[in-house]
Amino acid sequence: MRRLANESKLIMNINRKSQISEGYRNIRTNIQFSEWNHKLHVIAFTSTQAGEGKTTTISNLAVAYAQEGKKVLLIDADLRHPSLQSVFKVSNKTGLSNLLANQCRQEESIRTTGIENLSLITAGPVPPNPSELLSSGKLKELLEIWKESFDIILMDTSPVMAVADGLIVASMSDGVVFVVQAGKVKREYIRKSKEKLEHVKAQIIGVVLNHKRMSRSEARQYNYYGYQD
Ligand SMILES: Nc1ncnc2c1ncn2[C@@H]1O[C@H](COP(=O)(O)OP(=O)(O)O)[C@@H](O)[C@H]1O
Ligand SMILES: [Mg+2]
Repeated sequence: MRRLANESKLIMNINRKSQISEGYRNIRTNIQFSEWNHKLHVIAFTSTQAGEGKTTTISNLAVAYAQEGKKVLLIDADLRHPSLQSVFKVSNKTGLSNLLANQCRQEESIRTTGIENLSLITAGPVPPNPSELLSSGKLKELLEIWKESFDIILMDTSPVMAVADGLIVASMSDGVVFVVQAGKVKREYIRKSKEKLEHVKAQIIGVVLNHKRMSRSEARQYNYYGYQD
């Protein structure tokens, strides 16, 4: 995925015709092509470390799906660093943490985003025990309910190196997209993250190489594809 200009986190919504938007549509298409043998209803995004671009990529991908007419539920399951509320400029007073702790009803926490077909569950207040909440069984139960009303559920998660949260969420998904910031993380750590995901039987369906600066000729050659299987 190419480098975005600072102000355009939700480029899909600002400029649908840009080459960067085309890149996010390519991610969508690639996911659709990897569905040939099993349906990918719940997709989680993770990475090795923080700051590699999970939130930016998943937000734009969610818009790409919604623009295609799919009913999308985007969930901020990165309970330690809630961020989707600022991307979509909504309140984070209640969210996933409250739902998992049985502190609110699901209807109250599914927010509209101003983007047709795109619903959002923010992370909610940071809880003292994110891993326990995510693994309690409640999230799995809720996902089954949401699957009935949404065509696709996208879950933003924590990076997998430091805490178990991202792995717990990944293990509940039908497929995981692994975001790698080009040149940032040691190859060895990336390999370890991959092993951790395999250990919890998460199925990695693709890798997004993010922030990559391409030369002009490289860009022409690859037409800004930022995804590889
Ligand atoms: N393709 C990109 N081009 C430019 N900046 C990016 C790109 N992807 C992410 N960023 C920026 O990098 C920072 C970290 O990205 P973010 O999506 O929040 O990462 P993560 O969710 O993995 O922690 C943010 O400030 C974001 O705006
Ligand atoms: Mg994030």
